[in-house]
Amino acid sequence: MDNRDQIDAIKEALDIVAIINSYVPSLKRSGRNYFGLCPFHKEKTPSFSVNPDLKLFKCFGCGEGGDVIKFISRIEGLEFPKALQLAADKAGIVLKRSFNPESDKIAKEKKRLLEANELTAKYYNYLLLSHKLGEPGRAYVKKRKLREQELKKFLIGYAPNGFNNLKNFLLKRGFSLSELVSWGLLVEKNGKIYDKFRNRLMFTIVDHQGDVVGFSGRLIDPEGLGPKYLNSPETIVYKKSKTLFGLYHAKGSMRKESFVVLVEGNVDILSSHKVGIENIVAPLGTALTIDQVKLIKRYCDSIYFALDTDSAGQKALERDLPLIDQAQLKAFVLDLGKYKDVDELIVAGEDWPSVIKKPVEVVPYFIDSLKDKYDFSKAFSKTEYIRKILGFISKTNDVLLQNDYLHRLQGVTAVDARVLKNELEKIIKNQKQGTLEDVKNQDEIENPRTKEKEVLSKYLRSLVYQHVNFKSKIKEMADYADFLENKYLVVFRGILDSNLTQKFSLSDQELYEEALMSPVNIFEDFEKFKKELSQVINRIKKENIKERLETLRLKTQDGKGNESLVELQKLAKELAEIDLVKY
Ligand code: CTP
Ligand code: MN
Repeated sequence: MDNRDQIDAIKEALDIVAIINSYVPSLKRSGRNYFGLCPFHKEKTPSFSVNPDLKLFKCFGCGEGGDVIKFISRIEGLEFPKALQLAADKAGIVLKRSFNPESDKIAKEKKRLLEANELTAKYYNYLLLSHKLGEPGRAYVKKRKLREQELKKFLIGYAPNGFNNLKNFLLKRGFSLSELVSWGLLVEKNGKIYDKFRNRLMFTIVDHQGDVVGFSGRLIDPEGLGPKYLNSPETIVYKKSKTLFGLYHAKGSMRKESFVVLVEGNVDILSSHKVGIENIVAPLGTALTIDQVKLIKRYCDSIYFALDTDSAGQKALERDLPLIDQAQLKAFVLDLGKYKDVDELIVAGEDWPSVIKKPVEVVPYFIDSLKDKYDFSKAFSKTEYIRKILGFISKTNDVLLQNDYLHRLQGVTAVDARVLKNELEKIIKNQKQGTLEDVKNQDEIENPRTKEKEVLSKYLRSLVYQHVNFKSKIKEMADYADFLENKYLVVFRGILDSNLTQKFSLSDQELYEEALMSPVNIFEDFEKFKKELSQVINRIKKENIKERLETLRLKTQDGKGNESLVELQKLAKELAEIDLVKY
């Protein structure tokens, strides 16, 4: 059996409805589909559909969709190979080794490296919690008010002050010096090889799948040598730009709350867990990257910034916003008041959970926080401030929101909101020399008729496809070529002329699956179904006529009056006839 066959066998063996039902308990049957609330985005009415024949799921709200392995991968936050493994386990199928696309050598090294990392994490954690060598570490965590519960959960450790502790421990377990140096657990200097981390509190870095990928060691002795944080190098299992500290323990809560708090420091995260806030992550001492933002987007749709309240924190926020915008996430800011960071706030006994309940939108936050940095008595400085804020406002497409922000800005600057709006529009126009894709999207938004027709055609396709039991009758009654756009015709014919198993082109395949899985009214009774069908067809016909009337109106403006009058009468007649049509 090759890979493809094995994947198919697993999908075949699994009951997709049962599996999804264990994560989405509210699934209800309608026709051949099951509907429920989408687990991947927040919604009040079900637009999440599962089809047992196609063995596919699809959310018509957020667009997420695919087969059972994709579902497992998304809901568990696993990469494909691990999701496949889990699916195979559920199906009781033993995967063949050929699945690992990487060369055997790399796969082997990864396995050994993860093993060494895990052993190291447990070793340091044990020293911190239970061994006499860990005494300085215990004194430090006590001072920082960290609890044992979090120290265990995050595998926090203590690297003792000697040069050979970890070295001897790992050598005994069969790792070689050269391996351990290349993985950044030991260092080599002047021909000597010894422990990299010494007298440091060890933050174990775990990726989103729970593998120990590296370490970040914080200096304990303020007089100690070296940087405040000493970090693992990047390795075949650790890419800083794709890792977030805390994510593994934040996933569940992120999904539940649909937001995540972004902080700068590792300690902030441990303190936050102490008071029950778990949806909190931090980049690893580097600027936030688009990969990290995408990782966040797998689990929730808003980011609350709780960055350090110094100017570096504010700069970071400004720098990160375009990424958030690019990934279409929502950004908010949390007000830490007089505290430098979250840890300080919590240790001071402030109520962190209630601070989180008051997120401020980014634009009002900047209007407020930046105003003292500019000298309003100087026109240059004041307009610089205004343009900066307008830049932030231009990021939102919501006109009502824009208006609200402009009035706030007027309140602060005493510049008339209409003048501000003028300037804003200029800024937006300049940004709008976008891609073809942007233009196309714009077009769709600006032509509500096309949109309406598309919605109707979509519904029509689904309606027919989900009533294949009436197929032969449908064929007899409808002159369908007239009321469907060309691009849908192929699929529609396919629906009527063939069985469920079809050979469509890839894009037609998508239309086909959509038709099978979209929510529609399901009718047992043919007459009722027929009524629904003719109503939809009539509405499409009307839209078509309206479209032609619109074209005509434009022509009339061009002065071709006479010609148009005849056509106008023709259309009026057609429009009147529609309501008489009976199938
Ligand atoms: N950091 C780093 N290297 C440094 C300093 C900081 O990698 N030399 C990273 C660490 O991941 C750290 C984060 O940047 O968690 C934030 O730094 P900082 O605010 O200085 O540290 P805190 O985690 O807040 O630690 P503490 O509260 O102990 O000062
Ligand atoms: Mn701190």
